[in-house]
Amino acid sequence: MDKKVTVVGAGHVGATTAQRLAEKELCDVVLIDIVEGVPQGKALDLAEAAPIEKHDAKITGSNKYEASEGSDVVIITAGIPRKPGMSRDDLLSTNASIMKSVTENIAAFSPDAVLIIVSNPLDAMCHVAYKASNFHRNRVIGMAGVLDSARFRAFISMELNVSVENTHAFVLGGHGDTMVPLPRYSTVAGIPITELLSKERIDALIERTRNGGAEIVGLLKTGSAYYAPASAAVEMAEAVLKDKKKILPCAAYLKGEYGINDLFIGVPVKLGSNGIEEIIQITLTDEENAALQKSADAVKELVLKIEY
Ligand code: NAI
Ligand code: 2OP
Repeated sequence: MDKKVTVVGAGHVGATTAQRLAEKELCDVVLIDIVEGVPQGKALDLAEAAPIEKHDAKITGSNKYEASEGSDVVIITAGIPRKPGMSRDDLLSTNASIMKSVTENIAAFSPDAVLIIVSNPLDAMCHVAYKASNFHRNRVIGMAGVLDSARFRAFISMELNVSVENTHAFVLGGHGDTMVPLPRYSTVAGIPITELLSKERIDALIERTRNGGAEIVGLLKTGSAYYAPASAAVEMAEAVLKDKKKILPCAAYLKGEYGINDLFIGVPVKLGSNGIEEIIQITLTDEENAALQKSADAVKELVLKIEY
């Protein structure tokens, strides 16, 4: 393949991301993990599936960052996931130190890469990666809104018994309890869901979306979601690798947009080969704007707790 993507963290999200990237023949894939043998073993297993899955993407695993050299995109999933009873924010100090060292290594070997951050707490981890990489803000992007919007879309499709392909949804804000699903901008075949569902049903779907991560943690008991998170990270990577100019909700570093400064938060952005090529500013009602500002305050509170 003429594109190269490194996935750091060969755990549940990382390995599934590598699988989806390869099976879509988007790029060659390098898996990196701190645990000896794990990235090598998972990469070999995935490579052995290639003849059956009919793709020619090369997949390799390593514990060394030299293997990531010259990557076009790097997806960082390294860190610990939450267990039942833990919030995403409980992961802050452990994952911040992992994110710092991973990003410094990645930046040294792939200075031109676009970084897609996945580790939690997501918006705070984007800050750590942004500082540690010293990359332009366009090239540090957080994955959360695509996942949260996909969950909202799945629930809308279940509720109305329509194809998921007919659904569109926008969930903005931080990746936490204060996330901001926007029913006015969420549609089925172009029709806003506010015309198709009662307020009561919409509120129930919003609540389920907000708790989407916790619902899966509660069921799995030993970790958090990974199939949908991997799909979300791959949709973002594909938009960058193919220069698609695709508008997706992603965590971006804001400098005044939406009245928010020096903070990563989920907003609609246009993704292409330069990473975030535009931050799309949509009109929000007073209520929606207040919810976004509240979410930004929650992210800010967490960012201030990071010890670099
Ligand atoms: P996991 O435990 O299955 O995998 C994490 C991997 O990171 C492990 O293989 C571990 O060995 C590796 N790792 C730890 N320290 C490392 C280091 N210093 N360098 C390289 N690798 C290192 O966890 P899972 O389920 O894959 O989740 C990964 C992260 O992604 C978690 O923080 C989780 O909360 C987050 N997440 C975020 C989502 C989002 O929407 N942004 C969605 C799903 C997960
Ligand atoms: C999720 O939303 C754990 O953040 C992860 O599933």
